[in-house]
Order: sequence, then structure tokens, then C-alpha cells
Amino acid sequence: MKKEGKKLLLLDTGNFLIRKPLQTETKRRDALLRVDLLIHSYNEMGYEVVNVGEKDLMMGLKFLSEITQKANFPFISANLIDKKTQTRIFAPYVTKEIAKIKIAIIGLMDDQLNTLLQEIEPGLTLLDPITTSKELTKRLRDSSDLIVVLSQLGESKDRKLARENPQLDLILGGGGDALKAVMERVNEVPIYRLEPRGGYLGCIDYSLVNTRKPIKFLVSSERDDLEKRLERLITRSIQIKSEMARSEKQKAMRVKELKFLESKQKEVERTLLAFENKNFYKHVAIPVQLSVEDDPKIMREVEHYRAESAKLYKPKVASPPEKELSEKEMLAQIPKDSLYVGAITCKKCHEVNYRNWLKTKHAKASQTIVASPKYAQEECLICHSTGYGKIGEYATVDEIPLFLKGVQCESCHGPGRGHPKKGKIERRVTLGVCRNCHTKDQSPTFNYTAYLEKIGCKITK
Ligand code: HEC
Ligand code: HEC
Ligand code: HEC
Ligand code: HEC
Repeated sequence: MKKEGKKLLLLDTGNFLIRKPLQTETKRRDALLRVDLLIHSYNEMGYEVVNVGEKDLMMGLKFLSEITQKANFPFISANLIDKKTQTRIFAPYVTKEIAKIKIAIIGLMDDQLNTLLQEIEPGLTLLDPITTSKELTKRLRDSSDLIVVLSQLGESKDRKLARENPQLDLILGGGGDALKAVMERVNEVPIYRLEPRGGYLGCIDYSLVNTRKPIKFLVSSERDDLEKRLERLITRSIQIKSEMARSEKQKAMRVKELKFLESKQKEVERTLLAFENKNFYKHVAIPVQLSVEDDPKIMREVEHYRAESAKLYKPKVASPPEKELSEKEMLAQIPKDSLYVGAITCKKCHEVNYRNWLKTKHAKASQTIVASPKYAQEECLICHSTGYGKIGEYATVDEIPLFLKGVQCESCHGPGRGHPKKGKIERRVTLGVCRNCHTKDQSPTFNYTAYLEKIGCKITK
């Protein structure tokens, strides 16, 4: 985008530094490395403003303050304050000027997090975000052309914010459970939110032709729809005219339809004219992995991180080269209290399914990531192993217990303990189960019917 000569303002809604509480020293050190990598790459990409979320505060305020020293961009938060002094910790907003447009960017956190905040940083507290935003908007409205909120309030509070503060020009919502990018307008305020997990880069594309104040932007889709309608009307008229040239049949009716089309066309043209010399915005979610090339410099840093991180997790005793275990040895490794029992257990009674499964890519899905140049620690294991997050905490492929390596039978059929007597095994495996892992960005060519044929189990039609 920079190369195309577009003027960019890179913003982040925050909550990106630490994902979950760090229980062990190793994880803490790994997190430090990852935070360094993140800040480095954000600097490199030229991020300009980042909001603070509760996850960024997970390791305390002192830690975050140290991080902000390394960042070339400010962290902002309008409603996070020091309990004693009642003063703000970070700047409440930042103003930027792009193409002579003054943009004020406000950061907000959800005050419901106050209880959690007491645990991680008892000296801090959160003010009501909506009141805070109203006060700031009042102060900023006259001097700003656009007021943008970076929000960690969640979907329903973002809507509430829009309802109560229509002075805002854009709310960028972080978090949420949205499965795809959504742009909605509440009270005329656009709220934009992306699929979580960072697979997409959200882009709001503003085109500015009319700089008379106050500057307003309209959604371009309305204009685009009208243009499409106009095109359809014109095509239909041409079609009728050529039909009339060929035959005299139904002439009266065709003349009537032509008249009607003409009047509609004029109407649409008039409406379109009203859009002339107006400013527009549109939104696009860019799938990062598919359409953005890796930056060599950042890739080197990622490699460096992976190497350093891998060192942290190295077992104290060098693990012997993986030798083929016998079935008995494999079975012996499965804890008696584990909900998951591994494919090797299923083999006893479902020999055919087992043999077929061994031949599929699912069986080798954990090894795949070791060989991949994109090898990162835990992220990948969510989909490239079985039961991750539900049982066991493992951080590297080496650490995955054998009976959980790969995408096992139980990833699809559910945990096998107790089966076939009571148990939770399900025969039907729905599309939703596949979609847990075969997401749009990780499996862009996924097609349920075609993929089902390759999983090694007999499908009932
Ligand atoms: C001790 C033998 C045994 C083991 C071990 C075993 N199964 Fe089964 N499984 C059966 C029997 C018997 C049935 C048929 C029971 C029925 O039709 O209700 C069955 C049925 C199934 C079905 C079809 C269920 C249905 O409702 O039609 C699935 C799926 C299945 N097993 C998966 C597994 C998986 C996955 C494992 C390993 C985690 C496993 N089984 C381990 C004996 C076993
Ligand atoms: C726990 C996560 C997970 C679930 C659930 C899952 N998959 Fe997969 N699937 C993967 C991963 C990871 C790979 C890539 C394996 C590799 O190449 O290392 C994969 C690969 C595949 C492949 C191989 C594609 C190829 O190029 O040959 C097929 C086919 C497939 N999955 C079908 C399915 C279907 C159908 C479902 C649902 C019934 C499903 N998967 C459920 C994670 C999953
Ligand atoms: C959301 C689930 C998910 C996550 C997270 C994930 N993958 Fe995958 N991965 C898949 C699925 C599903 C496939 C199979 C895609 C297909 O064949 O359609 C796959 C395929 C692959 C493949 C094989 C591609 C090929 O050409 O056959 C590699 C390599 C891979 N993933 C590496 C990784 C690495 C490295 C990570 C961590 C940075 C990762 N994956 C994270 C789900 C995931
Ligand atoms: C990628 C998901 C997936 C994996 C992995 C998987 N299955 Fe299945 N399995 C299915 C689906 C889908 C069906 C078909 C259900 C239907 O249409 O009735 C099925 C059907 C079955 C059935 C009943 C039909 C038959 O073939 O007898 C059994 C038993 C079964 N699977 C066992 C297993 C075992 C054992 C493993 C591991 C060795 C395994 N499955 C791995 C998805 C999976």
C-alpha cells in the first residue's frame, strides 16, 4: 500500500503482547522474546498508535512501561488511571494529520475488567469508557476532522458506545468472537471488527475529494450498488432495442418498458449525481498470509526468535533419536486418567480405520510443522496436534505426548475414554469440527465433500 503511494495510518486495537498468564519461568522468558519481536516488527512496519488492553498489562505496569520505551509509537488509553492520583497512565489520545485531515485517535478499555485489573495491577483502575469518550469527543470535535476509537470494549459495548456517542467517526473493535470481518453501522457510526487471531489486516480505505469542512465520508457501497443498477438498466434497454429492431412483435409492450427503464435510469443518474464530489470509505479485510509477502528483515527476526525460543524449551537431557516404539510401549505411555486414549488404542478394534488414517496427512500433522520454515512454538500446535488446550500443556512438538501427536481420531470423533461402552465418541463429524482447524486462512481450498474423501474413514452418504 505504501508503494502504491497511499497515505497510511497504521493502528492497533491492542491486547496483543501476552496471550495468557505465564505460569512457568520458561514461558515468561519465551513471552519476553516474543514481545521483543512484536515491538520490533511493529516498529519496522511503522505502526503509529497502539491501544492498551488487559493482556498488555498481564506482566504489570512496570513491564509495559519498559516496553513502551522500546516502541517507536505511543500506547494510548483514555480510561486507565492511577487509583491514588486519579491521573492517566498513558496519553488518552493522539492526533495525526494526513492529507491535511486531522485525525484524533482515542484508546478505550472495558471497565468490567476492573476486578481482573485488581489482581494484576491493584494500583490502577478503569473509568467508564463511554463517559470518558464523550468528554474527550466534546474537547476534540472542533479541532478534528475524524475521531477514531481503538476499542477493547467488545461487540455489545462498541454498539452502545456508537448509540451514546454519535459524534464518533469510526470505532475499531478489537477482540470479539467474530468469525469473519464485520462492518456495521450503528447510529451512523461505522464499527469495524476483524476475525481474531491476526489472520487479517483490516483496511479502511478513505478517498478524499472534497475538503470543505466539516469533512464527511459516505460508504462507497451505496454508490457502487447504484452504479451496478445503472449498468443493468442500460444493458436491458439495449437488449430491448435490438429485439425491436429484429421483430415487430409486442412492440407496444416493449416501448412501454423502454419508457419505464428510461425514467428509472434518469432517477438513478440523479441520485448518483448527488454523490459526486463526495468523500467515500470502504473496508477490505486483507488475508495476510495469502496476499502479503514476507518481509525478509522481519523474517530474519522471526527466525532468530524461534531459535532463541527453541533453546528455552530444550529438554535438559538430550532426547534420544526417535525410535519406533512397539505398540505395547505406545499404549504404556497413555495415562490411565487421560480422556484421550490415542489412535493406537482405537487400532485394536478399528484396524482398517487406523491403517487408513496412518496414510493421511492428519497422522503426520505435528511433524509437518517441525519441517516448516514458518515453525513457531505454540500457535501451530492448536491445530497440528490433538486436544491442545483441553488437556496437557505442551509447547513444542517434542513435548507432545505420542498419543496426542498429529490430528488423531479423537480430534474428530471426540475423546475416546469409556468408549465403546458409554464414552463420548461421535460417529457424525460435522463441518463445524473441520472448520475449527480448516479455517479460511489456514485452509483456503477447503471443501467439505472433497476433503471428506481423503480422511480414511467410510462416509455414509
Ligand atoms: C474395545 C474395542 C474398541 C475400541 C478400543 C474402540 N472402539 Fe470404536 N467402536 C467399537 C464398537 C464395538 C463399536 C460399535 C458400537 C456401536 O455400534 O454402538 C464402535 C463404534 C465406533 C464408532 C461409530 C459410532 C457410531 O455411533 O456409529 C466410531 C466413530 C468409533 N467407534 C471410533 C473409535 C475411536 C476414535 C476409538 C479410539 C479413540 C475407538 N473407536 C476405540 C469398539 C471399539
Ligand atoms: C485438529 C485440527 C483439525 C481438524 C479437526 C481437522 N483437520 Fe484436516 N488437517 C489439519 C491439519 C493441521 C492438516 C495438515 C496436515 C499436514 O499436512 O501436516 C490437515 C489436512 C487435511 C487434509 C489433507 C489435505 C491434503 O492436502 O491432502 C484433508 C483432506 C483434511 N485435513 C480433511 C479434514 C476434514 C474433512 C475434517 C473434518 C471432518 C478435518 N480435516 C478436520 C487439521 C485438522
Ligand atoms: C487454525 C488451525 C491452524 C493453525 C493455527 C496452523 N495450521 Fe498449519 N494447517 C492447518 C490446516 C487445516 C492445514 C491443511 C490445509 C489444507 O491442506 O487445506 C495446514 C497445513 C499446514 C502445512 C502443510 C502445507 C502443505 O503445503 O501441505 C504446513 C507446513 C503448516 N500447516 C504449518 C503450520 C505452521 C508452521 C503453523 C504455526 C505457525 C501452522 N501451520 C498453524 C491448520 C492450521
Ligand atoms: C478428520 C476427521 C476424522 C479423523 C481424524 C478420523 N475420523 Fe473416523 N470418521 C470421520 C467421519 C467424517 C466419518 C463418517 C461419519 C459418517 O458419515 O457416518 C468417520 C467414520 C468413522 C467410523 C464409522 C465408519 C467406519 O469406517 O466404520 C469409525 C469406526 C471411525 N470413523 C473411526 C476412526 C478411527 C479409529 C480413527 C483414527 C484411527 C478415525 N476414525 C479418524 C472423521 C474422522
